[in-house]
Amino acid sequence: MRSIKISPSILSADFSILGNEIKSLEKAGADLIHIDVMDGHFVPNITIGPEVIKKLRSYTKLPFDVHLMISPVHNFIKDFAAAGSDIITIHPEATNDLEKSINEIKSYNKKVGISLNPETGIDKVLPVLGTIDLVLIMSVNPGFGGQKFIEKTLEKVKTLRKEIDSKKMKVEIEIDGGINFDNSKLAIDAGVDILVSGTTVFKQNQGNLKKNIEILRTG
Ligand code: DX5
Ligand code: ZN
Repeated sequence: MRSIKISPSILSADFSILGNEIKSLEKAGADLIHIDVMDGHFVPNITIGPEVIKKLRSYTKLPFDVHLMISPVHNFIKDFAAAGSDIITIHPEATNDLEKSINEIKSYNKKVGISLNPETGIDKVLPVLGTIDLVLIMSVNPGFGGQKFIEKTLEKVKTLRKEIDSKKMKVEIEIDGGINFDNSKLAIDAGVDILVSGTTVFKQNQGNLKKNIEILRTG
């Protein structure tokens, strides 16, 4: 059995007390902290940059799962590595040399994630699958929390699961966007290892983080 990890997205947290929110997530049983970085150009929203991540680093020992939705991303990788990211995930559309950007992330000893938008095919990631640590399947169009889950993206999860298992690769599959109590089991059954969740973790059950994480994890 795969063990399912939960990576709560702090996009749905209270940004005025982010440090404490992250501490609460650790206490509630989160496995990773998902940090959405948006630039108002690659996606139509703006969030936080490396300086904020650096300040948050001391609030938890959990890995920082940093999802970069910025373009061009390449020259910023260094700053996000130095800020204390553990996984750095980029979109293929955000760099003109994917292999070079993958190698840049690796040069700082960070795990590499590649993220696929709902309309991006897995052909974008298959050629580099053997060189990365994680594939992040977007189940909404990136930019905002609280959107509706796009179920057809699970087909990509299923295909990737088969590919990874048949080649005995260590690559993890993460899904991001619209994950809730009704679809987490679908995602787990399709083959994901890590569920990202913002709205469900922070808003369901009067914000009972522990309960919400547990329900998502058990599907
Ligand atoms: C969307 C972000 C997601 C988002 C998930 O662009 O990448 O991480 O915050 O939030 P929910 O769970 O609300 O869809
Ligand atoms: Zn994300």
